[in-house]
Amino acid sequence: MSLVSAKLLTRRQVSKAALGMAAAAGLPKWLRAAQNAMSQSGTNTVGPDSLRAHAAAHGLLYGAAVVPELLDVDGFASGTTSDPYTRLVAEQANILVAENAMKWHRLRPTATTFDFTQADKLMRFAGLAGQRVRGHNLCWHESIPAWFKTTATKDNAKQLLVNHIQTVAGRYRGRIHSWDVVNEAVNPKDGRGDGLRKSPWMELLGPEYLEIAYTTAAQADPDAKLTYNEYGIELDTPEDSAKRAFVLMLLRRFKARGIPIHAVGIQSHLQANGPQPGAGLVAFIRETRAMGLEAYVTEMDVNTHKLQGGPELQDAAVAEVYKNYLGRVLAEPNVLAALTWGITSAHSWINQSKEPWSVRPDGARQRPLPFDDNLQPTPAFFALRNAIDTAKPLTAQPLAAPPAGKPQDLYKPFAVPGSPTTKPQGAS
Ligand code: G3I
Repeated sequence: MSLVSAKLLTRRQVSKAALGMAAAAGLPKWLRAAQNAMSQSGTNTVGPDSLRAHAAAHGLLYGAAVVPELLDVDGFASGTTSDPYTRLVAEQANILVAENAMKWHRLRPTATTFDFTQADKLMRFAGLAGQRVRGHNLCWHESIPAWFKTTATKDNAKQLLVNHIQTVAGRYRGRIHSWDVVNEAVNPKDGRGDGLRKSPWMELLGPEYLEIAYTTAAQADPDAKLTYNEYGIELDTPEDSAKRAFVLMLLRRFKARGIPIHAVGIQSHLQANGPQPGAGLVAFIRETRAMGLEAYVTEMDVNTHKLQGGPELQDAAVAEVYKNYLGRVLAEPNVLAALTWGITSAHSWINQSKEPWSVRPDGARQRPLPFDDNLQPTPAFFALRNAIDTAKPLTAQPLAAPPAGKPQDLYKPFAVPGSPTTKPQGAS
Protein backbone atom coordinates (compact mmCIF):
# COMPACT_ATOMS: atom_id res chain seq x y z
CA MET A 1 0.00 0.00 0.00
CA SER A 2 1.37 3.40 -0.93
CA LEU A 3 1.77 6.33 1.41
CA VAL A 4 -0.75 8.23 -0.71
CA SER A 5 -3.49 5.69 -0.11
CA ALA A 6 -2.49 5.65 3.55
CA LYS A 7 -3.89 9.13 3.86
CA LEU A 8 -7.32 7.73 3.10
CA LEU A 9 -7.23 5.36 6.05
CA THR A 10 -8.62 6.17 9.44
CA ARG A 11 -6.28 6.03 12.41
CA ARG A 12 -8.07 2.97 13.70
CA GLN A 13 -7.66 1.15 10.39
CA VAL A 14 -3.96 1.85 10.35
CA SER A 15 -3.64 0.83 13.98
CA LYS A 16 -5.36 -2.42 13.15
CA ALA A 17 -2.99 -2.92 10.24
CA ALA A 18 -0.09 -2.35 12.60
CA LEU A 19 -1.55 -4.85 15.00
CA GLY A 20 -1.77 -7.32 12.17
CA MET A 21 1.96 -6.82 11.73
CA ALA A 22 2.46 -7.60 15.39
CA ALA A 23 0.43 -10.76 14.98
CA ALA A 24 2.51 -11.70 11.97
CA ALA A 25 5.58 -11.08 14.10
CA GLY A 26 4.55 -14.03 16.23
CA LEU A 27 2.32 -12.92 19.09
CA PRO A 28 0.73 -15.92 20.77
CA LYS A 29 -2.89 -16.73 19.97
CA TRP A 30 -4.13 -16.01 23.51
CA LEU A 31 -2.75 -12.49 23.32
CA ARG A 32 -4.39 -11.81 19.99
CA ALA A 33 -7.69 -13.22 21.29
CA ALA A 34 -7.46 -11.08 24.43
CA GLN A 35 -6.65 -8.03 22.32
CA ASN A 36 -9.65 -8.56 20.09
CA ALA A 37 -12.02 -9.26 22.95
CA MET A 38 -10.89 -6.33 25.06
CA SER A 39 -10.82 -3.96 22.15
CA GLN A 40 -14.38 -4.92 21.20
CA SER A 41 -15.61 -4.67 24.78
CA GLY A 42 -14.61 -1.03 24.91
CA THR A 43 -11.50 -1.31 27.07
CA ASN A 44 -9.40 1.20 25.30
CA THR A 45 -5.77 0.59 26.21
CA VAL A 46 -5.05 -2.77 24.62
CA GLY A 47 -4.79 -4.27 21.16
CA PRO A 48 -5.25 -1.53 18.58
CA ASP A 49 -5.52 0.96 21.45
CA SER A 50 -2.20 0.02 23.03
CA LEU A 51 0.89 2.21 22.98
CA ARG A 52 2.55 -0.46 20.90
CA ALA A 53 -0.07 -0.36 18.15
CA HIS A 54 -0.28 3.43 18.10
CA ALA A 55 3.50 3.73 17.93
CA ALA A 56 3.72 1.21 15.10
CA ALA A 57 0.96 2.98 13.19
CA HIS A 58 3.00 6.18 13.34
CA GLY A 59 6.31 4.58 12.40
CA LEU A 60 7.59 4.90 15.96
CA LEU A 61 8.90 2.62 18.65
CA TYR A 62 7.43 2.79 22.14
CA GLY A 63 9.11 0.78 24.83
CA ALA A 64 10.16 0.48 28.41
CA ALA A 65 12.97 -0.60 30.67
CA VAL A 66 12.18 -4.03 32.08
CA VAL A 67 13.36 -6.35 34.81
CA PRO A 68 13.86 -9.77 33.18
CA GLU A 69 13.62 -11.54 36.56
CA LEU A 70 9.94 -10.53 36.64
CA LEU A 71 9.05 -11.94 33.22
CA ASP A 72 7.31 -15.30 32.93
CA VAL A 73 9.00 -16.18 29.66
CA ASP A 74 8.16 -19.88 29.64
CA GLY A 75 4.51 -19.11 30.37
CA PHE A 76 4.50 -16.53 27.63
CA ALA A 77 6.11 -18.94 25.19
CA SER A 78 3.44 -21.56 25.86
CA GLY A 79 0.62 -19.02 25.84
CA THR A 80 -0.35 -19.87 29.42
CA THR A 81 1.02 -16.99 31.43
CA SER A 82 -1.37 -15.13 33.67
CA ASP A 83 1.35 -12.87 35.00
CA PRO A 84 0.09 -9.29 34.63
CA TYR A 85 3.54 -7.69 34.29
CA THR A 86 4.56 -10.12 31.55
CA ARG A 87 1.33 -9.57 29.69
CA LEU A 88 1.53 -5.80 30.04
CA VAL A 89 5.09 -5.64 28.70
CA ALA A 90 4.17 -7.81 25.71
CA GLU A 91 0.98 -5.89 25.08
CA GLN A 92 2.30 -2.34 25.24
CA ALA A 93 5.90 -2.23 24.06
CA ASN A 94 7.50 -2.81 20.68
CA ILE A 95 10.99 -2.19 22.05
CA LEU A 96 12.54 -3.20 25.38
CA VAL A 97 15.68 -2.29 27.27
CA ALA A 98 17.08 -4.05 30.32
CA GLU A 99 16.98 -1.69 33.28
CA ASN A 100 20.09 -3.31 34.75
CA ALA A 101 20.66 -6.76 33.24
CA MET A 102 23.13 -5.72 30.54
CA LYS A 103 25.29 -3.55 32.78
CA TRP A 104 28.81 -4.56 33.74
CA HIS A 105 28.00 -5.38 37.36
CA ARG A 106 25.28 -7.79 36.26
CA LEU A 107 27.16 -9.43 33.37
CA ARG A 108 30.58 -9.65 35.00
CA PRO A 109 30.66 -11.61 38.26
CA THR A 110 34.45 -11.85 37.92
CA ALA A 111 37.15 -10.44 35.68
CA THR A 112 37.21 -13.62 33.64
CA THR A 113 33.57 -14.68 33.51
CA PHE A 114 30.24 -13.54 32.12
CA ASP A 115 26.74 -14.31 33.35
CA PHE A 116 24.18 -13.79 30.61
CA THR A 117 21.25 -15.45 32.37
CA GLN A 118 18.98 -12.40 32.69
CA ALA A 119 20.14 -10.69 29.51
CA ASP A 120 19.43 -13.86 27.51
CA LYS A 121 16.04 -14.12 29.18
CA LEU A 122 15.15 -10.64 28.02
CA MET A 123 16.35 -11.38 24.47
CA ARG A 124 14.29 -14.56 24.36
CA PHE A 125 11.17 -12.78 25.58
CA ALA A 126 11.56 -9.95 23.08
CA GLY A 127 12.00 -12.50 20.30
CA LEU A 128 8.79 -14.26 21.30
CA ALA A 129 6.82 -11.01 21.64
CA GLY A 130 8.11 -9.56 18.35
CA GLN A 131 9.89 -6.69 20.11
CA ARG A 132 13.15 -4.95 19.41
CA VAL A 133 15.79 -4.51 22.09
CA ARG A 134 18.02 -1.59 23.04
CA GLY A 135 21.31 -2.55 24.62
CA HIS A 136 22.15 -0.59 27.77
CA ASN A 137 25.09 -0.19 28.18
CA LEU A 138 28.64 -1.14 27.21
CA CYS A 139 30.65 1.50 29.04
CA TRP A 140 29.59 3.62 32.02
CA HIS A 141 31.18 5.15 35.11
CA GLU A 142 28.54 3.48 37.33
CA SER A 143 27.58 -0.12 38.00
CA ILE A 144 31.13 -1.28 37.57
CA PRO A 145 31.77 -4.52 39.48
CA ALA A 146 33.84 -4.44 42.67
CA TRP A 147 36.64 -6.55 41.13
CA PHE A 148 37.28 -3.83 38.56
CA LYS A 149 38.92 -1.51 41.11
CA THR A 150 41.56 -4.01 42.07
CA THR A 151 41.99 -5.54 38.61
CA ALA A 152 41.90 -2.73 36.06
CA THR A 153 45.17 -0.91 35.36
CA LYS A 154 46.34 1.51 32.71
CA ASP A 155 47.99 -1.47 31.04
CA ASN A 156 45.02 -3.82 30.83
CA ALA A 157 42.05 -1.40 30.71
CA LYS A 158 41.89 -1.27 26.92
CA GLN A 159 41.89 -5.05 26.71
CA LEU A 160 39.19 -5.28 29.38
CA LEU A 161 36.95 -2.81 27.55
CA VAL A 162 37.51 -4.35 24.13
CA ASN A 163 36.99 -7.87 25.44
CA HIS A 164 33.76 -6.88 27.19
CA ILE A 165 32.31 -5.13 24.15
CA GLN A 166 33.33 -7.87 21.72
CA THR A 167 31.81 -10.50 23.97
CA VAL A 168 28.55 -8.76 24.88
CA ALA A 169 27.78 -6.96 21.61
CA GLY A 170 29.06 -10.01 19.70
CA ARG A 171 26.72 -12.34 21.57
CA TYR A 172 23.65 -10.38 20.46
CA ARG A 173 25.01 -9.38 17.06
CA GLY A 174 22.26 -8.60 14.57
CA ARG A 175 19.54 -8.63 17.23
CA ILE A 176 19.99 -5.27 18.94
CA HIS A 177 18.20 -2.19 17.63
CA SER A 178 20.65 0.22 19.25
CA TRP A 179 23.46 0.03 21.78
CA ASP A 180 24.16 2.69 24.38
CA VAL A 181 27.85 2.23 23.75
CA VAL A 182 28.94 4.92 26.18
CA ASN A 183 26.60 6.26 28.81
CA GLU A 184 26.89 9.66 30.49
CA ALA A 185 30.45 10.59 29.47
CA VAL A 186 29.91 14.32 29.85
CA ASN A 187 30.02 16.12 33.19
CA PRO A 188 31.03 19.78 32.93
CA LYS A 189 31.22 19.97 36.74
CA ASP A 190 34.42 17.92 36.59
CA GLY A 191 36.09 21.00 35.12
CA ARG A 192 37.81 19.54 32.07
CA GLY A 193 37.95 21.83 29.04
CA ASP A 194 36.26 19.21 26.87
CA GLY A 195 33.43 18.69 29.37
CA LEU A 196 34.23 14.99 29.70
CA ARG A 197 33.60 13.19 32.96
CA LYS A 198 36.49 12.04 35.10
CA SER A 199 35.24 8.47 35.03
CA PRO A 200 37.28 5.37 35.79
CA TRP A 201 37.60 4.85 32.03
CA MET A 202 38.91 8.37 31.60
CA GLU A 203 41.40 7.90 34.44
CA LEU A 204 42.68 4.67 32.91
CA LEU A 205 42.61 5.39 29.20
CA GLY A 206 42.05 9.10 28.70
CA PRO A 207 39.48 10.37 26.16
CA GLU A 208 40.59 7.63 23.77
CA TYR A 209 38.30 5.24 25.62
CA LEU A 210 35.37 6.68 23.70
CA GLU A 211 36.88 5.90 20.33
CA ILE A 212 37.89 2.43 21.49
CA ALA A 213 34.36 1.71 22.68
CA TYR A 214 32.58 2.84 19.51
CA THR A 215 34.97 1.28 17.02
CA THR A 216 34.88 -2.02 18.90
CA ALA A 217 31.08 -1.97 19.07
CA ALA A 218 30.86 -1.26 15.33
CA GLN A 219 32.97 -4.34 14.60
CA ALA A 220 31.10 -6.53 17.07
CA ASP A 221 27.61 -5.61 15.85
CA PRO A 222 27.62 -3.73 12.56
CA ASP A 223 23.79 -3.63 12.44
CA ALA A 224 23.13 -1.91 15.76
CA LYS A 225 22.66 1.84 15.87
CA LEU A 226 25.52 3.01 18.04
CA THR A 227 24.14 5.52 20.48
CA TYR A 228 25.53 8.08 22.91
CA ASN A 229 23.13 8.27 25.89
CA GLU A 230 23.01 11.25 28.27
CA TYR A 231 20.93 12.86 31.03
CA GLY A 232 20.62 16.48 32.16
CA ILE A 233 20.44 17.89 28.63
CA GLU A 234 16.71 18.53 28.42
CA LEU A 235 16.09 21.91 30.06
CA ASP A 236 16.86 25.47 29.05
CA THR A 237 18.64 26.08 32.38
CA PRO A 238 22.28 27.28 32.23
CA GLU A 239 23.43 23.90 33.58
CA ASP A 240 21.57 21.75 31.03
CA SER A 241 22.37 24.17 28.19
CA ALA A 242 26.09 23.98 28.97
CA LYS A 243 25.99 20.20 29.13
CA ARG A 244 24.08 20.02 25.85
CA ALA A 245 26.77 22.16 24.21
CA PHE A 246 29.47 19.75 25.41
CA VAL A 247 27.50 16.76 24.13
CA LEU A 248 27.18 18.41 20.72
CA MET A 249 30.90 19.09 20.77
CA LEU A 250 31.54 15.44 21.53
CA LEU A 251 29.25 14.24 18.73
CA ARG A 252 30.88 16.64 16.27
CA ARG A 253 34.29 15.34 17.31
CA PHE A 254 33.08 11.77 16.66
CA LYS A 255 31.89 12.75 13.22
CA ALA A 256 35.07 14.66 12.39
CA ARG A 257 37.25 11.71 13.42
CA GLY A 258 35.13 9.12 11.63
CA ILE A 259 34.13 7.39 14.87
CA PRO A 260 30.99 5.33 14.19
CA ILE A 261 27.99 6.98 15.86
CA HIS A 262 24.40 6.76 14.70
CA ALA A 263 22.15 8.12 17.40
CA VAL A 264 21.84 10.18 20.54
CA GLY A 265 19.82 9.02 23.53
CA ILE A 266 18.08 11.75 25.51
CA GLN A 267 17.31 10.12 28.85
CA SER A 268 14.46 12.46 29.84
CA HIS A 269 14.22 11.97 33.60
CA LEU A 270 11.95 14.99 34.04
CA GLN A 271 10.37 16.85 36.96
CA ALA A 272 6.71 17.81 37.30
CA ASN A 273 7.59 21.24 38.75
CA GLY A 274 10.20 23.75 37.82
CA PRO A 275 11.79 24.49 34.47
CA GLN A 276 10.59 22.39 31.56
CA PRO A 277 12.34 21.35 28.35
CA GLY A 278 12.07 23.95 25.61
CA ALA A 279 13.64 25.48 22.53
CA GLY A 280 17.19 24.53 23.48
CA LEU A 281 16.47 20.81 23.29
CA VAL A 282 14.63 21.16 19.99
CA ALA A 283 17.60 23.05 18.55
CA PHE A 284 19.89 20.30 19.85
CA ILE A 285 17.80 17.59 18.20
CA ARG A 286 17.87 19.52 14.93
CA GLU A 287 21.65 19.81 15.17
CA THR A 288 21.91 16.06 15.63
CA ARG A 289 19.66 15.55 12.63
CA ALA A 290 21.92 17.80 10.56
CA MET A 291 24.77 15.50 11.57
CA GLY A 292 22.79 12.53 10.23
CA LEU A 293 22.00 11.13 13.68
CA GLU A 294 18.80 9.56 14.93
CA ALA A 295 17.52 10.57 18.37
CA TYR A 296 15.68 8.50 20.96
CA VAL A 297 13.93 9.36 24.20
CA THR A 298 15.56 6.57 26.18
CA GLU A 299 14.53 6.73 29.85
CA MET A 300 11.51 8.96 30.35
CA ASP A 301 9.80 9.33 33.69
CA VAL A 302 8.38 12.28 35.60
CA ASN A 303 9.37 12.90 39.20
CA THR A 304 6.91 14.57 41.60
CA HIS A 305 9.02 14.74 44.74
CA LYS A 306 8.54 18.49 44.99
CA LEU A 307 4.86 18.47 44.12
CA GLN A 308 2.34 18.98 46.92
CA GLY A 309 -1.06 17.29 46.48
CA GLY A 310 -2.76 13.94 46.17
CA PRO A 311 -2.59 11.29 43.45
CA GLU A 312 -4.97 13.10 41.09
CA LEU A 313 -2.84 16.21 41.19
CA GLN A 314 0.31 14.16 40.69
CA ASP A 315 -1.26 12.35 37.77
CA ALA A 316 -2.39 15.56 36.10
CA ALA A 317 1.03 17.18 36.48
CA VAL A 318 2.86 14.10 35.22
CA ALA A 319 0.52 13.76 32.23
CA GLU A 320 1.04 17.41 31.37
CA VAL A 321 4.79 16.86 31.17
CA TYR A 322 4.34 13.79 28.94
CA LYS A 323 2.00 15.76 26.70
CA ASN A 324 4.17 18.85 26.32
CA TYR A 325 7.50 17.06 26.17
CA LEU A 326 6.64 14.26 23.78
CA GLY A 327 4.41 16.53 21.70
CA ARG A 328 7.44 18.73 21.11
CA VAL A 329 10.17 16.12 20.82
CA LEU A 330 8.39 13.45 18.79
CA ALA A 331 7.49 16.07 16.18
CA GLU A 332 11.17 16.13 15.20
CA PRO A 333 11.61 13.76 12.24
CA ASN A 334 14.79 12.08 13.54
CA VAL A 335 13.20 11.13 16.88
CA LEU A 336 12.23 7.53 16.20
CA ALA A 337 11.73 5.93 19.60
CA ALA A 338 10.40 6.81 23.03
CA LEU A 339 11.06 4.56 26.00
CA THR A 340 9.96 5.03 29.58
CA TRP A 341 12.24 3.95 32.43
CA GLY A 342 9.99 1.18 33.61
CA ILE A 343 6.39 0.64 32.62
CA THR A 344 4.62 0.65 36.00
CA SER A 345 5.30 2.69 39.13
CA ALA A 346 5.38 -0.64 40.98
CA HIS A 347 8.92 -1.18 39.67
CA SER A 348 10.15 2.35 39.06
CA TRP A 349 13.65 3.15 40.34
CA ILE A 350 12.16 6.39 41.70
CA ASN A 351 10.01 4.42 44.12
CA GLN A 352 12.94 2.22 45.15
CA SER A 353 15.16 5.05 46.33
CA LYS A 354 15.19 6.84 49.66
CA GLU A 355 17.14 9.78 48.24
CA PRO A 356 15.66 13.28 48.76
CA TRP A 357 14.94 13.54 45.01
CA SER A 358 12.70 10.52 45.30
CA VAL A 359 10.73 10.99 48.51
CA ARG A 360 7.49 12.95 48.24
CA PRO A 361 6.45 15.51 50.87
CA ASP A 362 3.46 13.33 51.86
CA GLY A 363 5.47 10.10 51.78
CA ALA A 364 3.18 8.74 49.04
CA ARG A 365 4.56 6.64 46.22
CA GLN A 366 5.31 8.41 42.98
CA ARG A 367 3.38 7.78 39.75
CA PRO A 368 5.96 8.61 37.07
CA LEU A 369 4.99 6.12 34.35
CA PRO A 370 2.11 5.13 32.02
CA PHE A 371 0.90 2.42 34.40
CA ASP A 372 0.43 2.57 38.16
CA ASP A 373 1.21 0.17 41.01
CA ASN A 374 -1.84 -1.91 40.08
CA LEU A 375 -0.85 -1.94 36.40
CA GLN A 376 -3.74 0.34 35.55
CA PRO A 377 -3.18 3.07 32.95
CA THR A 378 -2.45 6.51 34.38
CA PRO A 379 -3.30 9.81 32.67
CA ALA A 380 0.31 9.72 31.45
CA PHE A 381 -0.62 6.69 29.33
CA PHE A 382 -3.21 8.71 27.45
CA ALA A 383 -0.94 11.75 27.19
CA LEU A 384 1.80 9.55 25.76
CA ARG A 385 -0.54 7.92 23.28
CA ASN A 386 -1.98 11.28 22.17
CA ALA A 387 1.53 12.64 21.72
CA ILE A 388 2.36 9.69 19.48
CA ASP A 389 -0.83 10.24 17.49
CA THR A 390 -0.41 13.96 17.03
CA ALA A 391 3.34 14.36 16.67
CA LYS A 392 3.99 11.80 13.96
CA PRO A 393 2.03 11.22 10.76
CA LEU A 394 0.23 7.96 10.15
CA THR A 395 2.00 5.51 7.98
CA ALA A 396 0.54 2.59 6.11
CA GLN A 397 3.91 0.92 6.23
CA PRO A 398 4.35 0.11 9.88
CA LEU A 399 7.72 -0.92 11.16
CA ALA A 400 9.12 -4.07 9.66
CA ALA A 401 9.28 -7.07 11.95
CA PRO A 402 12.50 -7.27 13.99
CA PRO A 403 15.16 -9.73 12.89
CA ALA A 404 13.90 -13.25 13.55
CA GLY A 405 15.25 -14.48 16.87
CA LYS A 406 16.87 -17.85 17.08
CA PRO A 407 16.42 -18.66 20.75
CA GLN A 408 18.39 -21.87 20.46
CA ASP A 409 21.47 -19.88 19.43
CA LEU A 410 21.57 -18.24 22.84
CA TYR A 411 22.57 -21.39 24.54
CA LYS A 412 25.27 -22.50 22.13
CA PRO A 413 28.78 -22.36 23.47
CA PHE A 414 30.63 -19.15 22.82
CA ALA A 415 32.16 -18.59 19.43
CA VAL A 416 32.83 -14.86 19.39
CA PRO A 417 36.09 -12.99 19.57
CA GLY A 418 37.14 -12.28 23.14
CA SER A 419 35.63 -15.45 24.51
CA PRO A 420 35.22 -15.31 28.28
CA THR A 421 37.04 -18.62 28.52
CA THR A 422 40.23 -16.65 28.04
CA LYS A 423 41.47 -14.49 30.86
CA PRO A 424 41.72 -10.78 29.94
CA GLN A 425 45.33 -9.76 29.47
CA GLY A 426 46.84 -8.51 32.69
CA ALA A 427 43.91 -9.64 34.85
CA SER A 428 44.99 -10.98 38.21
O1 G3I B 1 19.04 -6.09 43.47
C1 G3I B 1 19.78 -5.53 44.57
C2 G3I B 1 19.21 -6.02 45.89
O2 G3I B 1 19.39 -7.42 45.97
C3 G3I B 1 19.92 -5.31 47.05
O3 G3I B 1 19.32 -5.65 48.25
C4 G3I B 1 19.84 -3.81 46.87
C5 G3I B 1 20.61 -3.06 47.94
O4 G3I B 1 20.91 -1.74 47.52
O5 G3I B 1 20.38 -3.45 45.61
C6 G3I B 1 19.69 -4.03 44.53
O6 G3I B 1 20.27 -3.63 43.35
C7 G3I B 1 20.06 -2.29 42.99
C8 G3I B 1 19.41 -2.30 41.59
O7 G3I B 1 19.28 -0.99 41.19
C9 G3I B 1 18.04 -2.99 41.56
O8 G3I B 1 17.11 -2.24 42.24
C10 G3I B 1 21.38 -1.59 42.95
O9 G3I B 1 21.91 -1.46 44.27
C11 G3I B 1 21.20 -0.21 42.37
O10 G3I B 1 22.49 0.38 42.18
C12 G3I B 1 20.52 -0.31 41.03
O11 G3I B 1 20.26 0.95 40.58
C13 G3I B 1 20.06 1.10 39.19
C14 G3I B 1 20.94 2.26 38.73
O12 G3I B 1 20.66 2.56 37.38
C15 G3I B 1 22.41 1.90 38.83
O13 G3I B 1 22.73 0.83 37.97
C16 G3I B 1 18.59 1.40 38.95
O14 G3I B 1 17.81 0.24 39.19
C17 G3I B 1 18.39 1.83 37.50
O15 G3I B 1 17.08 2.28 37.32
C18 G3I B 1 19.34 2.97 37.17
O16 G3I B 1 19.18 3.29 35.81
C19 G3I B 1 19.92 4.42 35.34
C20 G3I B 1 20.34 4.13 33.93
O17 G3I B 1 21.05 2.92 33.86
C21 G3I B 1 21.18 5.28 33.36
N1 G3I B 1 20.47 6.53 33.49
C22 G3I B 1 19.97 6.85 34.81
C23 G3I B 1 19.09 5.71 35.34
C24 G3I B 1 18.51 6.05 36.68
O18 G3I B 1 19.52 6.21 37.63
